[in-house]
Amino acid sequence: MNRLRMLTGGESHGPKLTTILEGLPAGLPLNRASIDEMLRRRQHGFGRGGRQRIEHDTVEVTGGLRNGRTLGSPLVMHVENRDWANWSEVMDPWEVDQSKAGERSVTRPRPGHADYSGGVATDQLEDQRNVLERASARETAARVAAGAVCCQLLERFGIEMRSAVLALGSHTILEGAPTWEDLAGVDPASPLVTPRPNDEEPLVEAVRSVRDEGETLGGVVGLVVRGMPPGLGSYVHWDRKLDGCLAQAITSIPSVKAVALGEGLEVSRRVGSLAHDPFILGENGLERTSNYAGGLEGGVTNGSDLVLRAFFKPISTLRRGLPSVDLETGEPGNTVWERSDVTAIGAAPVILESMAALILADALLETLGGQAIADVDTSWETYCARVARWWTPKQKFQ
Ligand SMILES: Cc1cc2nc3c(=O)[nH]c(=O)nc-3n(C[C@H](O)[C@H](O)[C@H](O)COP(=O)(O)O)c2cc1C
Repeated sequence: MNRLRMLTGGESHGPKLTTILEGLPAGLPLNRASIDEMLRRRQHGFGRGGRQRIEHDTVEVTGGLRNGRTLGSPLVMHVENRDWANWSEVMDPWEVDQSKAGERSVTRPRPGHADYSGGVATDQLEDQRNVLERASARETAARVAAGAVCCQLLERFGIEMRSAVLALGSHTILEGAPTWEDLAGVDPASPLVTPRPNDEEPLVEAVRSVRDEGETLGGVVGLVVRGMPPGLGSYVHWDRKLDGCLAQAITSIPSVKAVALGEGLEVSRRVGSLAHDPFILGENGLERTSNYAGGLEGGVTNGSDLVLRAFFKPISTLRRGLPSVDLETGEPGNTVWERSDVTAIGAAPVILESMAALILADALLETLGGQAIADVDTSWETYCARVARWWTPKQKFQ
């Protein structure tokens, strides 16, 4: 990221999570309710564990904002961990109550988590809680706070997002890459946030039966971004190509194991004439007859809808346990179950939106420049006018 920087801090059962988002222009109006709404969506989804009943995530801002407008200084946001009240002796930053810490220490690494790999990296295998507290996906609340701010910046320029769960385990709800229209019917309040909320009962049933078996599920989540102007990103440098930046940000979401850009998976099995998006000069200017590329060519946006899919592995903490070894005693034994989600797929759409928004807002600001929102607005008008000279009607991406 060249213009924005995001840093998150805090542990799953620490007092709070903190996000610092730096690089926003001064004077950008922010709406607190929209941030809280995205935080609420992150807590949503059928199959979530008991933690979501404890937490009521809302944003607290302690820097970079005055009277609802950004100041151009780092935006400092916090989300409280209500569960801290139950963990304060175990997680105290200065003096941990050893009698309580013993009960909660983790010595049998859970396959699929950072317990072992992170413990090796930081020499904390003795009590892997030191690793898992930070590696936990609770941290995504801090990311969503930043993502919600970035969404508000994008919306100012007419850039909007739709996202949904496309598959839950082996149940496919929508095959292939989604279109903007495919995601029109998503109800963020439905149990599994699919494009067809009325058909979700069998999926809810699938989660119930997996839960009863002590198992877990992952799935596929799709995102479509409408209104992206062409020309954002770079075809010049490997580390500024927008496709690569998006893939990095999205695979950093806990559990994401693959990303598809447009019909990336499908076109790999086709011949070239069925894999690319022909240009035509249509009624409204330069148009494409398809969008297999998902709005990105050569690491740069091309003005078509941006289309992404993220593939989530099943949750790694299973109630039935997974084979492991106690690193204190050397004894084999199953992993220990601690309150956990059966599936977190219902939370995934808003997390995907957030990470994409961060990268897209960064790319937009890098192209437009400006430390004051008024300058960004002026630059946007100039940019749109220049792009429109090449038969790209401004209204197409507005
Ligand atoms: C929103 C969300 C909630 C999650 N909740 C849990 C959970 O309750 N229990 C668990 O074991 N893993 C949970 N995970 C998955 C772990 O965070 C993930 O498996 C772990 O961080 C390792 O993932 P990685 O190998 O992709 O880095 C969740 C993931 C997400 C995105």
